[in-house]
Amino acid sequence: MRQKMVVGNWKMHGSAEQIQQLLRDVIRGLAGQESTAVGVCPPYPYLPLVKQLCAESDVKVGAQNVSRHESGAFTGEVAAPMLSDLGVDFAIVGHSERRELYGETNDIVAEKFMASQAAGINPILCVGETLSQRDDGETEAVVLAQLQAVIAKAGVEAFGEAALAYEPVWAIGTGKTATPEQAQEVHRLLRGYIAGLSEDIAANLQILYGGSVKDSNAGALFTQADIDGGLVGGASLQAEQFIAICANTEN
Ligand code: 13P
Repeated sequence: MRQKMVVGNWKMHGSAEQIQQLLRDVIRGLAGQESTAVGVCPPYPYLPLVKQLCAESDVKVGAQNVSRHESGAFTGEVAAPMLSDLGVDFAIVGHSERRELYGETNDIVAEKFMASQAAGINPILCVGETLSQRDDGETEAVVLAQLQAVIAKAGVEAFGEAALAYEPVWAIGTGKTATPEQAQEVHRLLRGYIAGLSEDIAANLQILYGGSVKDSNAGALFTQADIDGGLVGGASLQAEQFIAICANTEN
């Protein structure tokens, strides 16, 4: 039985003051919900603060991005061993905002995935299609190509220490959510592809859904057979919403 997981991706939001308040409320609100794994991904500068605030709780701390390089002259980048030094538990790689706004190709994402694992940090690999790709019937080809690029470099066994997130780009920050059936169809496809390579890895792989997850839709999404929780943007910035989303994994 796969454990459900809910991860908040705060993106470039928050201040030290807001984060302290948010985490205080979230940690208090999550008391008694131990069956779900919960994580938050603050902007880099707040990672030490968030680690400290989460120290007495079960909330895991992740980075939103990671460099594909181990060290060197890469101004502005943060390497996986540095995240490891801070005690960061996992890192998001290949978020569509990184792919679209910062030119991260499938190959770069695969390198980030491997750099992260090499430093002992579990990656959450994001895949997802744009609206025009969906309209053109390319969803399957796009998400599989994104997945295959990582498997080609890292091997399917690497997914024993990683998670996947299906985030349809058209549903991110738009208020439009994939229907539970649309999301399940892609999740089933992704798990099925991995099962073709390793039944065992596929059976244990957590595949999260991301894209306008809120309290009102989380229950229907998270009860789909291949949806193991959520990667939550906007709603993770509001303690009440985030707690309610996490509670939906208990169903
Ligand atoms: P929203 O929940 O704001 O749509 O963001 C989803 C996301 O990008 C999580 O990584």
